[in-house]
Amino acid sequence: MVSTRTLTEEILELKRERKAIILAHHYQEPELQEIADSTGDSLGLSRRAKEFDGEVIAFCGVWFMAETAKILSPTRTVVVPEREAGCSLVDSCPADQVRAFKKLHPDHVVVSYINTSADVKAESDIICTSSNAVQVVNSIPAEKPILFCPDINLGNYVKKMTGRQNIRVWQGACIVHSTFPARRLTKLKAEHPTALIAAHPECPQDVLRMADFIGSTSGIIKWCTSQTPAEEIIVMTESGVKHSLQRLAPGKKFYFVDNENCNCSECPYMKMNTLEKLHACLRDLAPRVELPVETMDRARLPIERMLAVKL
Ligand code: 13P
Ligand code: SF4
Repeated sequence: MVSTRTLTEEILELKRERKAIILAHHYQEPELQEIADSTGDSLGLSRRAKEFDGEVIAFCGVWFMAETAKILSPTRTVVVPEREAGCSLVDSCPADQVRAFKKLHPDHVVVSYINTSADVKAESDIICTSSNAVQVVNSIPAEKPILFCPDINLGNYVKKMTGRQNIRVWQGACIVHSTFPARRLTKLKAEHPTALIAAHPECPQDVLRMADFIGSTSGIIKWCTSQTPAEEIIVMTESGVKHSLQRLAPGKKFYFVDNENCNCSECPYMKMNTLEKLHACLRDLAPRVELPVETMDRARLPIERMLAVKL
């Protein structure tokens, strides 16, 4: 078995040879975040992929994120350590069902969360992430009806924050966040009464109602480490963020709640990527994201529209 140190050196060597960049989502294992050139949330990593001018993007995250990188940087080779690193939200929203909805409701503006397939993005008018969903919806004229897909909790949160009634929300959910139970949060809060609560908007409404801060993974990290003076925080998102939280605010205490699905707070898809698989994907340039040019061209427009929305 190769030691982690040797493996790390080999990955860095391969990265140089391939003129590659390594991007890692905040939910990745600490050793993947450590070796990455950039860590971030979906929005930040999309921006990083767009501005990259090397040859290979090794995307440590889930497949839809790597597809987004490919769409924004179509001449680069985009590889992911594990092909099966999917997302329950993507699975909940097949493109043919979105097409069927559009046929029945041609007047609706389709706003899709970035956690969708490239085919669904190609059917959408504008994309959003958890960082900018409210601003994206506010950029659409108030009288226009909206289909928001696929996350039911983010959709309901956006509905509440914008005060718009003309939003139909798809019924998809994240298997990690949607199964964080409010009763476990209440229990933890009772054990740590001075702790504040930061939550990702994919959490259920009863969890979000208890939160002192709601935001994307990068938003949560920023709030916990540099915006709130709180010394103890309950963090309602995937536990991969612990790595940045502890590095940036070593003196603070962070608590995580187990969900009902795995009795943990880990995304099983995100955790499929490993240092060994990163090494193999840089060596073999596979698994590689390949998409039809037409799909990429259609999907790029709604992503570019999102990137143009002022935060
Ligand atoms: P972020 O947009 O906050 O990175 O979230 C992505 C995600 O998959 C959350 O579960
Ligand atoms: Fe998808 Fe949820 Fe995993 Fe994020 S945490 S990648 S939304 S399954």
